[in-house]
Amino acid sequence: MIPLVYDQINRWGKDDEFFLALLKKLHIKKIADLGCGTGRLTSHFAKAGYHITAVDPNEEAIEYAKNKEYPGEISWVVGDSSNLKSNAFEAVIMTANVAQVFLTDKSWQHAISDVYRALKPGGYFIFDTRNPIAKAWEQWEKDKTPDVAIHHMSGEQLEIWTEYKGFVEDVYTFYETVKNARTDKVLIQEKMELKFRTQEEIDESLQRAGFSQIQVYGDWEFKQATIETKSFIIHSIK
Ligand SMILES: C[S@@+](CC[C@H](N)C(=O)[O-])C[C@H]1O[C@@H](n2cnc3c(N)ncnc32)[C@H](O)[C@@H]1O
Repeated sequence: MIPLVYDQINRWGKDDEFFLALLKKLHIKKIADLGCGTGRLTSHFAKAGYHITAVDPNEEAIEYAKNKEYPGEISWVVGDSSNLKSNAFEAVIMTANVAQVFLTDKSWQHAISDVYRALKPGGYFIFDTRNPIAKAWEQWEKDKTPDVAIHHMSGEQLEIWTEYKGFVEDVYTFYETVKNARTDKVLIQEKMELKFRTQEEIDESLQRAGFSQIQVYGDWEFKQATIETKSFIIHSIK
């Protein structure tokens, strides 16, 4: 996550619409947005009237998030799942594949146990994660053109280049480099790592944490996921 360019290269999409629609069906108010990043989606949750605690370990991302306009009060936390208050939320949501940043089974299980603890009885845990069977990386690797963005301070054009390394052990690894398009000067380079978990692995881990009524939607429609689904959207209950 590179806050400087994140919102410009991750525009509003049907995934965001889906999360809002899913939350709306639940008739709840108090949510935690875990891995909120720059508040890209948090701002829309706020507009929809939710009472939000928004948590992310990336301090710079939280600074970007805080500088946006929001109706109502949002409680911003630089931290992770361990900072969530116990028995406090009607839903915990993790959007844009936050689930894939937990690289080890231990860290993943730890995070979802924290989510379980943070939810009120009957509370919902909602998140998305890419289906490893769909091999999204094969498409990513074909794209040889940079993303573009504008530096919000200088107004200069930026290019975001991605260098894919593939799987290192069982973690998909790539590097993002932000350059000034005119001077070619490298401004930021960041290593990104993603863990792809199968539907069975996710299911098992949720059950181990205590979740039940696990519902898996596919590709941003209110339909059951299939084996070819690119993204799983998972909805489970404490
Ligand atoms: C792809 S971004 C998604 C941001 C946001 N949810 C959205 O919809 O735009 C992944 C986020 O996960 C955050 N993250 C990394 N490690 C985390 C952890 N241990 N707990 C919670 N969030 C984490 C990153 O800082 C980053 O903001």
